[in-house]
Amino acid sequence: MKILVVGGGGREHAIIKKLKENKTVTEIFATPGNGGIAKDATCVDIGAKEIDKIAAFAMENAIDYAVVAPDDPLVLGCVDALEEKGIPCFGPRANAAIIEGSKVFSKNLMKKYNIPTAAYEVFTDMDAALTYLDTAPIPTVIKADGLALGKGVIIAMTRKEAKDAVRSMMADKVFGKSGDQIVIEEFLTGPEVSVLSFTDGKTVVPMISSMDHKRAGDNDTGLNTGGMGTVAPNPYYTAELAEECMQTIFLPTIAAMNAEGRKFKGCLYFGLMLTPNGPKVIEYNCRFGDPETQVVLPLLESDLLTVMQATTNGTLAETEVKFADKNACCVIMASKGYPTAYEKGYEMTIPEVIWDNVYVAGAALKDGKLLTNGGRVLGATAVADTLDQAIDSAYKMVKTIHFDNAYYRNDIGAKALKAGRN
Ligand code: AMP
Ligand code: GLY
Repeated sequence: MKILVVGGGGREHAIIKKLKENKTVTEIFATPGNGGIAKDATCVDIGAKEIDKIAAFAMENAIDYAVVAPDDPLVLGCVDALEEKGIPCFGPRANAAIIEGSKVFSKNLMKKYNIPTAAYEVFTDMDAALTYLDTAPIPTVIKADGLALGKGVIIAMTRKEAKDAVRSMMADKVFGKSGDQIVIEEFLTGPEVSVLSFTDGKTVVPMISSMDHKRAGDNDTGLNTGGMGTVAPNPYYTAELAEECMQTIFLPTIAAMNAEGRKFKGCLYFGLMLTPNGPKVIEYNCRFGDPETQVVLPLLESDLLTVMQATTNGTLAETEVKFADKNACCVIMASKGYPTAYEKGYEMTIPEVIWDNVYVAGAALKDGKLLTNGGRVLGATAVADTLDQAIDSAYKMVKTIHFDNAYYRNDIGAKALKAGRN
């Protein structure tokens, strides 16, 4: 089997490493991949959003199965384009990827089908939004409608902050067209849980739960990032909550998408908040989370390719999806200054003995040397029987990896460890 993975971050590296465990896989291509992925797959210099080129490449190279991992190509119709060429894919078509591509769509979907989420208002007119904020409850949450590189959500603690956020999205267009419409929603509180799920549009199989650490600094301080580390499972997410979420959120979402004529296949990610009034959806993603994937897939005992193909073929109900009864911790190493300004081009050294545990997010290969090439540079994942062992081993690995200006949080998993002891 020749596989194509679209994307080039740590998540894609984790997917590729897992797919390689299947003996029928003979070759994996990545568009564009990165300098680290190049050790495990053939990287092709085509950007993840260059859909026509990706489809042409897949045809020319007789790709048997494609995995489209990032949000942008999914929302832009990469799966549609590949399927038109007869190439089976993992991932939703554009008409279903809209569940992430438009917050207005997803909020309206949840309202229409009674799926628990924060109360909200939609605005296309800036003055109306500003007037609404004169009396709206504070704190409040401002969200750009479209994709915004994970930065389109502002938690405003004051009315001024809220109004500034609205102006920056709707007048200054900091997120371009993504800010043409905005959602202003109720501020919720409670522990957050990420639940990735496999679905073929009929059956939904939640993967092991996880916890992201989005802020740049220890103790959840500093700016929001793409994710500084993850642990799985998430101790807040009990078996009872899992059952409640299945009945009130997961199954109703799959049914809602079918009722709208937007069958969702692939990985549907539920970003949940466990509020005092029960679990509520904070966001949907139409794809694997990053860096959740880097702790979830190492715990998957079943064959990933088989499960992925079952989502494509509609046979998920008959397919075993099994996770190890263990814990995983992923610590992200970033470039100092991330998520704002940072430097690139520093040589990286990663000991060979830990390569299987390392997922490279931003690196370039130059003259045989691996150089940092992004804000998030890599993640190191450890799997162990207990969470504290997993955290300990992940940090031991991180300390053996070197590049100048490396930065990482020191408290990944600390909150989960505390919650698990209560
Ligand atoms: P997102 O970019 O959609 O992942 O949102 C980023 C983060 O903003 C989430 O992980 C939450 O921590 C926070 N957030 C989003 N919506 C709300 C809300 N309604 N109430 C409180 N926090 C929220
Ligand atoms: N870790 C959150 C995301 O992938 O959007």
